[in-house]
Amino acid sequence: MSPVPNPAASSSAPPPAGSSALVHQPIIIETQDLRKVYRTGFWLKAAPPSLKQCSLEIYKGETFGLLGPNGAGKTTLLKLLLGIIRPTAGGATLMGQPAGDSETKANIGYLPENPYFYDYLTGWEFLSYTAGLFGIRGIEQRRRINELLDLVQLDMRSASKKQMRRYSKGMLQRVGMAQALMNDPEIVFLDEPMSGLDPTGRYQVREIILSLKEQGKTLFFNSHVLSDVEKICDRIAILDQGEIVCIGEIKQLLGNPDYYKVQGKGGSLDILDQWLADITFANGYWHGTLYGNPFEFMATARLMNATVAKLAVAKPTLEEFFMEQIQQRRQRRTDADSQRPAVRKLQKKKKKRTLSKPVAG
Ligand SMILES: Nc1ncnc2c1ncn2[C@@H]1O[C@H](COP(=O)(O)OP(=O)(O)O)[C@@H](O)[C@H]1O
Ligand SMILES: [Mg+2]
Repeated sequence: MSPVPNPAASSSAPPPAGSSALVHQPIIIETQDLRKVYRTGFWLKAAPPSLKQCSLEIYKGETFGLLGPNGAGKTTLLKLLLGIIRPTAGGATLMGQPAGDSETKANIGYLPENPYFYDYLTGWEFLSYTAGLFGIRGIEQRRRINELLDLVQLDMRSASKKQMRRYSKGMLQRVGMAQALMNDPEIVFLDEPMSGLDPTGRYQVREIILSLKEQGKTLFFNSHVLSDVEKICDRIAILDQGEIVCIGEIKQLLGNPDYYKVQGKGGSLDILDQWLADITFANGYWHGTLYGNPFEFMATARLMNATVAKLAVAKPTLEEFFMEQIQQRRQRRTDADSQRPAVRKLQKKKKKRTLSKPVAG
């Protein structure tokens, strides 16, 4: 058994008062028991649910990251929120209106996972077309496109002279981001905005997201690049096989450290053994895990002439936490599935016994 406390166990509990300023903001996106079952093939056979009983509340001004492995249901949830697809059950509201409401759509920006661009248009022409859809024309249109090109850092020459079929993935992502922001939306949905980008491209997308955050926009984005998520999100949810595994602030989810990794030299092994767990030796150092008070341990180390080279909080990274949550959830499912036949067998036996009982009278 891992000695690491399960932070997910406490994630459903309300955050302590004052732990986040965001909880005092109004709810801007809400889903209740949202469920989606796709029907495919000629007979419209129901596939396993892509989203199950998903209930979420997103606060105004929040940067919310939805994480999950491929096929977890992230894009499905985003499309449901945008009203692109309809739920099988449950509901969602954006700014108090049902998802898909046409007035609300005017206040939403969306960067799809694999945006399709008109290859033979230049970036400028494409943005001009998008602006037209929102009724932005003339000088106002030029001003807005210039502003957006500046924000997404796409140079004017490439934007106005180059056709988009000649753009790199990073440049296309910038154009996509600019079109998503054309209407100065209140909520911005980004589906895997960093995927396929090199480190510089990822850094720049992160900077754009942070500048939108500064402007007070609500950002909802899907990602499997955990390091980026860790840097920009106020809260995250982990989705696996259509189920929300946990949700909360990263700091809160990773939990408070209650043990330390220690490395040192010298001292008495008998005494070290009383203080440290999992002692190993490598490169002339002993290594171990300390569950006790670090100050008292340091005092003991001095008394036994040991040199402590390192004493660090053993906090899981978001990546470790993510893997642990997914593994634990899948293990729980396997356990539940393996118990099911036994329960069925028992029920069958009981039924048989009831049937074979002689009827009284
Ligand atoms: N249009 C569709 N028709 C049928 N099944 C779909 C459709 N879109 C997604 N799915 C299925 O739903 C599940 C979740 O997909 P998706 O939401 O795209 O996951 P993610 O974005 O997390 O990778 C997958 O099993 C996928 O095959
Ligand atoms: Mg997806």
